[in-house]
Amino acid sequence: MPLAASTPAPAAQPFEIRPFPAGTGAEIIGLDLTQPLNGDDFARVHRAHLDYHVVVFRETRITPQQQIDFSRRFGTLQIHVLKQFLLAGHPEILIVSNVAENGQNIGLSDAGKFWHSDLSYKELPSLGSMLYAQTLPSEGGDTLFADMHKAYAALPAELRKAIDGQKASHLYTARYAEPAINGYQRPTLTPEQLAQVKPVEHPIVRTHPETGRKALFVSEGFTTHIVGLPEDESRQILAELYRYSVLPENIHRHQWQEGDMVFWDNRSVIHLATGCPAHLHRTLHRTTIQGDAPF
Ligand code: SIN
Repeated sequence: MPLAASTPAPAAQPFEIRPFPAGTGAEIIGLDLTQPLNGDDFARVHRAHLDYHVVVFRETRITPQQQIDFSRRFGTLQIHVLKQFLLAGHPEILIVSNVAENGQNIGLSDAGKFWHSDLSYKELPSLGSMLYAQTLPSEGGDTLFADMHKAYAALPAELRKAIDGQKASHLYTARYAEPAINGYQRPTLTPEQLAQVKPVEHPIVRTHPETGRKALFVSEGFTTHIVGLPEDESRQILAELYRYSVLPENIHRHQWQEGDMVFWDNRSVIHLATGCPAHLHRTLHRTTIQGDAPF
């Protein structure tokens, strides 16, 4: 019997990883994501993601399925609870957009209005998210990333002691009732959707499961309170933690360029969408990769 022909391994690609000068973030130049990556190339990208927390693939030209396939190399994909904003035929992709058609938003318009780590409100929060630019505004629309390892390192000893071994509660709807931006109507969640986003508790300081580094893991977007503390004390401590989370020197600003796909590590950074003028269109496609239970 003739031997079955084996599929040749994907060819190595000559791409460059260029760290940004401030230490957070790196851009990846010359990688063709329409092709499957071979093991060594994938390992370089994986290492850059762990080291720099935010990697920017430049001049990306991929289909939704290629974005999904590449994202899946890092883990299982999570499907967002707002089903109405999933890309038709590709529910693994969440549309992030301020565009409305016939009076209906085509995507999640206020994703990232508050600092947050994606899906921290799930038992298994996200490992990382890939956000791929589709339509960019001529003004504004930047995304900010704050390094939560540096935030933890900056905490004064007393504050560290106050949160040592403590957990915080995270809730998807923590800020849901607050006024939305630009007339966007937040969809009312059905009982089935609400059942998917019950409050969860996570350690305030988590250990990165791949690098072993400690990071703060609270954010104003989804954290509601510190478990077991009186409300006032919990509010005060969280306010302090939020202040240390976003020290200007620990923030990386991403100014989007056509073809950018940004892949960040939700275990290491929180992020914020700065918004753009309402008359300008901004649409991106997000895949969200499931991570481990924080410890
Ligand atoms: C998000 O929070 O996933 C969206 C960030 C952005 O739109 O810049």
